[in-house]
Amino acid sequence: MPTTTAADPTLSADQLAAFRRDGVVVLPHRFRADEVAVMHDALDELLAEDVPQNIREKSSGVVRTAMGLHLRHEVFARLVHDPRLLAPAHQVLGPGPLYAQQVKVNVKEAFTGEQWQWHYDFATHHHEDDVPEPLALNLHVFLDEVTEFNGPLMFVRGSHRDGPVATSLDTVTTSYPLWTVGPEVVGPLAERGGLISPKGPAGTMLMFGDTIVHASPPNLSPWPRRIFSLIVNPVGNRQRSDRRADHFHHRDLTPLG
Ligand code: SIN
Ligand code: MN
Repeated sequence: MPTTTAADPTLSADQLAAFRRDGVVVLPHRFRADEVAVMHDALDELLAEDVPQNIREKSSGVVRTAMGLHLRHEVFARLVHDPRLLAPAHQVLGPGPLYAQQVKVNVKEAFTGEQWQWHYDFATHHHEDDVPEPLALNLHVFLDEVTEFNGPLMFVRGSHRDGPVATSLDTVTTSYPLWTVGPEVVGPLAERGGLISPKGPAGTMLMFGDTIVHASPPNLSPWPRRIFSLIVNPVGNRQRSDRRADHFHHRDLTPLG
């Protein structure tokens, strides 16, 4: 069975099958420690900036999410073209052009990082940006070790196969409006498929799609949980509304790669 190597960033048949079955695939040791260290340095610079792209936690005011990163630092400008991120996306979506829809780090700071409610990404992409189809892929890179303590993501295994489920708009709980999935929907889906909570060392990559239901608890631990996230979308499936600021959904459709 072929495995993924630095030289060959494509997913193995098993990894692709896991993605299709579960809705998320976990790729440990995708980025080296020295590469992650460079990203930390770049991120430290960006988090010190007082700009609208740094979205803050409601209660503590610390940065929750730093957005538009490929336009703000050359380290992230390079990262969005990395074949280790893009090759798996093209395996799923085909060879057509992909653009960077959103480029961010969710910081989940030690002690103060707040929750992400149950949701799936397409609800926001569709309702806010008028994206036609749930084709976008979310490519994560852990910038810290993710453990049971520091607010790991939880995915409802297989929930992507039900298509977009019912949502409602929450403008109160989180630091920007989020289309969330209620307990009456999450409960039965989780009873059926169970939850997956990927953990692993810094440098681990995740790929998941636009309709898998996911959430994450607050970070009460003394360790941050920084995760880089690149959302890619086929150019042919681009947004039809520009009402949100560019850093929420970039308007530059130049193909990545
Ligand atoms: C998280 O960073 O915990 C949530 C990220 C997401 O919903 O994509
Ligand atoms: Mn999400």
